Amino acid sequence: MKRASPPNFDQSAFRQALSQFATGVTVITTRAASGQLIGITASSFNSVSLSPPLVLWSLATRSASMPVFRTNSHYVVNVLAATQLDLCKRFATVKGDRFEGVSHAAGDSGMPVLDGALAWFECHNRSRYEEGDHVIFVGEVERCGVHENAAQMLPLVFQSGQFHGLKPL
Ligand SMILES: Cc1cc2nc3c(=O)[nH]c(=O)nc-3n(C[C@H](O)[C@H](O)[C@H](O)COP(=O)(O)O)c2cc1C
Repeated sequence: MKRASPPNFDQSAFRQALSQFATGVTVITTRAASGQLIGITASSFNSVSLSPPLVLWSLATRSASMPVFRTNSHYVVNVLAATQLDLCKRFATVKGDRFEGVSHAAGDSGMPVLDGALAWFECHNRSRYEEGDHVIFVGEVERCGVHENAAQMLPLVFQSGQFHGLKPL
């Protein structure tokens, strides 16, 4: 079988090309065995399978929360609304307790579900794949829900390093 040719671009050109792909924004939340609540902003979320219901997302190997996500069985994917840009930034940057002042409730699995999320998926992790500098997590969805006012809400969208509130064409 033929092997991959070496890239003809540098990392910044790769990032710039990738960033043209518009994504939604999620916060992935979990509770460590110690009881500590953990959350990270992630745009790498996507659907995988309807039956069984599977989703995926990826986390940088060097991420401080990797030890918890590597060992925890459950997490929640919270899909952010355009009004939750502050949460997106908070869960991407704050070094201390990212849940301070953030309203949330425990889902059926005991993992935190963020109030105001456009949708949420409570997952049991099914598999992990180490690829390059990230780990891909595949989660089996045990429960999911949609905000009761979702029809009147805009999703938070990330593209080319900027945030948008997506309006239908
Ligand atoms: C819009 C946006 C999307 C992001 N998506 C991801 C992602 O999919 N995977 C990832 O590992 N980091 C992603 N990040 C970066 C993490 O949120 C950030 O590095 C965070 O601080 C990691 O937390 P930790 O080091 O405490 O684990 C994203 C950041 C932003 C602002």
